[in-house]
Amino acid sequence: MLSTNYTDLPPEIKVVPDLPALYRAGADEFIRSALEAIAARGRFTVALSGGSTPKGVYSLLAEANDLPWDKIHFFFGDERDVPPTDPESNYRMAGESLLSRVPVPPANVHRIAAEMGARLATLEYQSELYAFFNLAPGEWPRFDLIMLGMGPDGHTASLFPGSTALNETDSWVADNWVEKFKTYRITLTFPVINHAAEVMFLVAGQDKSQVLKEVHQGKTDAYPSQRVKPLNGRLLWIVDKAAASLL
Ligand code: 6PG
Repeated sequence: MLSTNYTDLPPEIKVVPDLPALYRAGADEFIRSALEAIAARGRFTVALSGGSTPKGVYSLLAEANDLPWDKIHFFFGDERDVPPTDPESNYRMAGESLLSRVPVPPANVHRIAAEMGARLATLEYQSELYAFFNLAPGEWPRFDLIMLGMGPDGHTASLFPGSTALNETDSWVADNWVEKFKTYRITLTFPVINHAAEVMFLVAGQDKSQVLKEVHQGKTDAYPSQRVKPLNGRLLWIVDKAAASLL
């Protein structure tokens, strides 16, 4: 396990030519991280990101037949306030592109039960994380890998500009009202994200180029994505050429 404190280093930005190359790079990093964690600690804990970009990564991973799936625990960085069968569900997306296609034990898939309603789902997911990581009070879970995307407004997970959960410093999970969508989302909070051993952003497309420039070159922490700063972990951005066109 790398012991370098990456907060002293600038984020790593890997620019790849196009979307297929981003999928490949994201899958390769997932596999590398998984094998390293399993070799070191016998298990791999990963929080999957939602949205559309990661679908191609998950599909490639589903073809990686030689991964020790029984040693991988899947969590979710966030979830929409919809049932798992809903087309908007991140769990459904990950299920269709990866989890239903590999022999991961059902007990290793820790979904956010959004059908319970945002508040109850938040409490239930947080309890599940508490039980899984089994830490002393005040300690934070250290995911081996947290995968993130970024919206054109600079949000990540379901941490949207101006939303309450941006300021959450105690809870591991938050139910977060998102004004622009007039809905609640359930999300990991910044302290959990920033305690991860590795955070990997996957960002693609011309529509992200302006915000990516501002996130990386802006002087403030105006955008939620700028507040992802692993305390003692690796921060890797894998971006395609179109998204990186203004860097
Ligand atoms: C979600 C995601 C969200 C996503 C960004 C980028 O639930 O939608 O967690 O944070 O990563 O919106 O989405 P795309 O990668 O599809 O552009």
